[in-house]
Amino acid sequence: MKNRIAVIPGDGIGQEVAQAGVKVLEAISQKKGLNLSFKWFDLGADRYLKTGETLPQPVFDELSTSFDAIYFGAVGDPRVPDMKHAKDILLGLRMRLDLYINLRPVQLYHEELTPLKNKGVSDIDMVIFRENTEDLYVGMGGNFKMNTVDEIAINEMVSTRKGVERIIRAAFDWAVSHGKTRVCMTDKANAISYAHGLWQRVFKEVSKEYPQITPRHVYADALAMELVRAPEDFDVIVASNLLGDILSDLGAQLVGGLGLAASANIHPNRVSLFEPVHGSAPTLAGKNLANPFAMVLTGALMLDFLGYADESKRLEALVKSCIDDKITTTDLGGKLGTQEMADYMVSLVDRFF
Ligand SMILES: NC(=O)c1ccc[n+]([C@@H]2O[C@H](COP(=O)([O-])OP(=O)(O)OC[C@H]3O[C@@H](n4cnc5c(N)ncnc54)[C@H](O)[C@@H]3O)[C@@H](O)[C@H]2O)c1
Repeated sequence: MKNRIAVIPGDGIGQEVAQAGVKVLEAISQKKGLNLSFKWFDLGADRYLKTGETLPQPVFDELSTSFDAIYFGAVGDPRVPDMKHAKDILLGLRMRLDLYINLRPVQLYHEELTPLKNKGVSDIDMVIFRENTEDLYVGMGGNFKMNTVDEIAINEMVSTRKGVERIIRAAFDWAVSHGKTRVCMTDKANAISYAHGLWQRVFKEVSKEYPQITPRHVYADALAMELVRAPEDFDVIVASNLLGDILSDLGAQLVGGLGLAASANIHPNRVSLFEPVHGSAPTLAGKNLANPFAMVLTGALMLDFLGYADESKRLEALVKSCIDDKITTTDLGGKLGTQEMADYMVSLVDRFF
């Protein structure tokens, strides 16, 4: 089993939710003898403003060779308006570690949390696989005649055969290993014929290797509608970087928003990075108001990746029970602060593990 975890709390509420998340994971580790080890890393706006360092090479080397997973809070600070440190740290880790799978569960824990009418917890239970290293996010392009009436701005959309195939395969593999039967690929091949034509061809080819899975294709604009109309029709969705980015935020809102949305950035068999979807929320920072559920559910994703599938499910059930009992932070209508919420979850560990 893998158990070496690097903790990067980062900025703002990232620091508070990271403390909460680690507290809960430590309690589980102790109860179940998992032997999880945590090493904290001081990376973020404070360090950058003090020393000019964002992600020093020796720290990157240590993160990439000495750990199984990185448990990440959030980065972003109003004192660094160009986001230099956030780009170097978070995007740097995603790109340099080649974390090509961005996995975003869309799981409803209580029917009161969804804005959809007549949909319950069994209707909204899917996972989105977003390609995490290519597409319009590679930063290729430029401006010509900038700030004139003749300005031209270009961003190149990059899709490689290798990149498309590995994310599609990851979606099918995850469906098989998690007992799911449907994988939907979404694109805009009707308009973006070259890049998304490649997605269509590879999806058709790879899906033949998984006869137990029903493959489906839906154009991304239609999928945005379908996710609202009939979310129960989807188990696993696989998409390019841009489309996955947009659709997974739609998904997050279907299940209660940022306080609950977890994500993983994975390269199978390499150190991978687990982070809540939310940012550093500077207006909440330091006030003990942040909801730690997203961070704790991110911890559940990390446990699954580390080989503790049973513990991962139990941790999800623990969070669900807090929501069912309406014992939550204020954003979800409860009364607890971030750290009190963490302590309450720790008090449930004996019951759930
Ligand atoms: N992965 C990341 O590290 C990441 C992701 C998104 C934004 N950011 C950065 O975070 C900073 C703030 O960005 P933003 O305000 O657009 O997004 P945000 O996610 O930090 O906050 C958006 C809204 O959601 C609320 N919110 C977020 N997380 C919450 C939680 N755990 N509990 C309760 N309420 C919560 C906030 O109060 C705010 O109203 C910026 O610097 C941005 O670049 C970082």
